[in-house]
Amino acid sequence: MDERKTVPGIWRLDGRAAIITGGGGALATPIAHGLVASGASVIVADRDGERAETVAAELRAAGGDALAMTVDVLDESQVAAMVQRAVDQWGRLDILINTAGGGSRGLALGYDRKTFDDVLALNVTGTFLCCQAAARVMIPRGDGRIVNFASIAGLIAYPGNPAYIASKGGVVQITRSLAIEWATTGVRVNAIAPGVIQTAGVARQVSREPEFYDAFRAKHPIGRFGAPDEIVGPVLFLCSDASSYVTGHVLAADGGYTAQ
Ligand SMILES: NC(=O)c1ccc[n+]([C@@H]2O[C@H](COP(=O)([O-])OP(=O)(O)OC[C@H]3O[C@@H](n4cnc5c(N)ncnc54)[C@H](O)[C@@H]3O)[C@@H](O)[C@H]2O)c1
Repeated sequence: MDERKTVPGIWRLDGRAAIITGGGGALATPIAHGLVASGASVIVADRDGERAETVAAELRAAGGDALAMTVDVLDESQVAAMVQRAVDQWGRLDILINTAGGGSRGLALGYDRKTFDDVLALNVTGTFLCCQAAARVMIPRGDGRIVNFASIAGLIAYPGNPAYIASKGGVVQITRSLAIEWATTGVRVNAIAPGVIQTAGVARQVSREPEFYDAFRAKHPIGRFGAPDEIVGPVLFLCSDASSYVTGHVLAADGGYTAQ
């Protein structure tokens, strides 16, 4: 019996090569640790090379096979070099996790055009360019798993975040579009839609708009914001053989927010 096809083998990622963009970020860091703990080798790619190296060094200290790269997901040559590095290092690329993303809150009437364009570019175009580059090496091998970072903001709306909400809706639809285009190639494309997750960045936003975030917290039926560690399992599921029949799916990890 092939252990990879049985429980718990279907959850393992031994011998797999992974890239995580925005890899120095708050949600990416515990996911990267989860990848190496599951047996994968990892490129931690971030526009902020120091953050990437900090995480990669932590992974190596934990016994993982990891390296850091400075990569802006909007720079196609850097994105192509990131994918090529995985192929040069490990001869393959199995997993791409696109966490590079972000937004800027502000009411629609005064929302600045450049900020709007920048948020759309980072979340939609950046995600697309990384998917495209990864699929160029995954499709010929007939295997690949891509996990994009959407948000509940891609599934529902709330005031004060027009660009982020539009862009995460775009991530949801790019995920579905690529999933069906590549469905017969062996490359699966899914998205994760976190609710509000308690990171340092979110803590800064909460201190700026405490009343808005109190109301937002109350809308999570589970009664609290999520912790970064609580995103790891759902992402690893989508990276593993346990989800071999799952593609084009948006997995809400949101304390029940979108069940309402
Ligand atoms: N924290 C939350 O509550 C939450 C909720 C839902 C969705 N998300 C999404 O999860 C993802 C990660 O969020 P986070 O809270 O960890 O944010 P974070 O700011 O901690 O991490 C984002 C990382 O992306 C990097 N980055 C930014 N622009 C980049 C670019 N052009 N190229 C490469 N790297 C770039 C940053 O340097 C940073 O390390 C984002 O897509 C975010 O929209 C977060």
